[in-house]
Amino acid sequence: MSENNTSSVDLDALASLAKRRGFIFQSSEIYGGISSTWDYGPLGVELKRNIKDAWWRTFVWERDDMVGLDSSILMNPEVWRASGHVDSFTDPLVDCRECRQRWREDQLEERKCPDCGGELTEARNFNLMFKTFIGPVEDDTSVAFLRPETAQGIFVNFENVLNSSRKRLPFGIAQIGKAFRNEITTGGFIFRTREFEMMEIEYFVEPGTDEQVHEQWIQDCLAWYTDLGVNRDRLRVRAHEAEELSHYSKGTFDIEYLFPWGWGEIQGIANRTDFDLKAHSERSGHALTYFDQAENKRFTPYVVEPAAGVDRAVMTFLVDAYAEEEAPTASGGTQKRIVMKLHPTIAPVKVAILPLSRNERLVPLAREVYDTVRRSGAVEGFVQYDDAQSIGRRYRRQDEIGTPLCITVDFDSLDDDAVTIRDRDSMEQARIPITNLDSELGARLSG
Ligand code: GAP
Repeated sequence: MSENNTSSVDLDALASLAKRRGFIFQSSEIYGGISSTWDYGPLGVELKRNIKDAWWRTFVWERDDMVGLDSSILMNPEVWRASGHVDSFTDPLVDCRECRQRWREDQLEERKCPDCGGELTEARNFNLMFKTFIGPVEDDTSVAFLRPETAQGIFVNFENVLNSSRKRLPFGIAQIGKAFRNEITTGGFIFRTREFEMMEIEYFVEPGTDEQVHEQWIQDCLAWYTDLGVNRDRLRVRAHEAEELSHYSKGTFDIEYLFPWGWGEIQGIANRTDFDLKAHSERSGHALTYFDQAENKRFTPYVVEPAAGVDRAVMTFLVDAYAEEEAPTASGGTQKRIVMKLHPTIAPVKVAILPLSRNERLVPLAREVYDTVRRSGAVEGFVQYDDAQSIGRRYRRQDEIGTPLCITVDFDSLDDDAVTIRDRDSMEQARIPITNLDSELGARLSG
């Protein structure tokens, strides 16, 4: 059996599987698509939702120092002036004088066009925020921006959350939502897109405790990926060089994953100091501070910010889980199988019910098992009923989409009230009484 190996995962093969099986489609495909914009299909939406739920569970529900927020995408444009995004959220854009291709100067190894070797123009700063207009009149007074990060919605609500939740420092606010950036270069499938989803935390601390808290968050974030099965050897933590640091950051560490093209950032963990709360206090005239009753002092908290991309997490889990193996066949030979070894917590389909055939004697029992499993408290997620084609092909299909468990209902089931459970990774099969299914599935899916 060959182990899954990132460097051997072909991105085109992954994108093709993702389309074929209903994970990810090109947006507006029937019109020729729109560059680097993707839609999540029936399985993709389950995977993405499971990832977001797992993140929320770990970082909000399982902790006692976190609360959530869902702020709007459109905000008062003053927010983006205060945050520095209007002035500083830019990339250096260069054009090739020969082929007209556009590049980000900071991503080029040499000062010439990577496509044709042509001479490049001088760099000009290009603001990544998408602009729109609020109301019917399109002029300077009606300009608004689509948020490029969810973080600012958290900062401007700091006082609202503090007063309503009665949290004491240190505490954090988590938010999951869409963000938009007019990226100059996109690509790597869903890796860099102009519309994407973020899972962000702003964690407020007393100044002086920030560096220790920062270190702890890096470890906690790293553990989230490995607890969900990502291979630790393909993850690394990289500190930003001084010249890479964002305008608000005292120090940033990226968690990177070894993608087929090399290391790529999947999440940043920045020490934003008191930059944002102070900037909004100054611009709005509304002091965003914290009063420490025990110490009888008022101050502006520092902020540690773990910020992850949902789509990059999807990409990481898909690449990491993808494996091609030689599997034994019934006739004693072997056959290549593609298997997505997704952790049960995030697998889009938790359990598939497979009647051995469409025989009319089998179908009622198979349907009954399907109803029971779907409604069982032990199975939190999507359950599929699959009766098309041979049982072998159905196993292969479920392997390819990462279904951890398949339940086969066969003719013996009619007599012994038992079914066969097949494990995706080991391919081992066990006979289980239908009455024990709940506890068996619960135990097997708990990871
Ligand atoms: N509030 C902090 C912040 O926005 P960032 O490093 O710019 O930090 C955080 O973004 C995460 O969002 C990145 O680590 C990445 O996972 C994701 N992300 C950023 N730009 C993206 C893009 N164009 N496409 C997909 N994901 C992106």
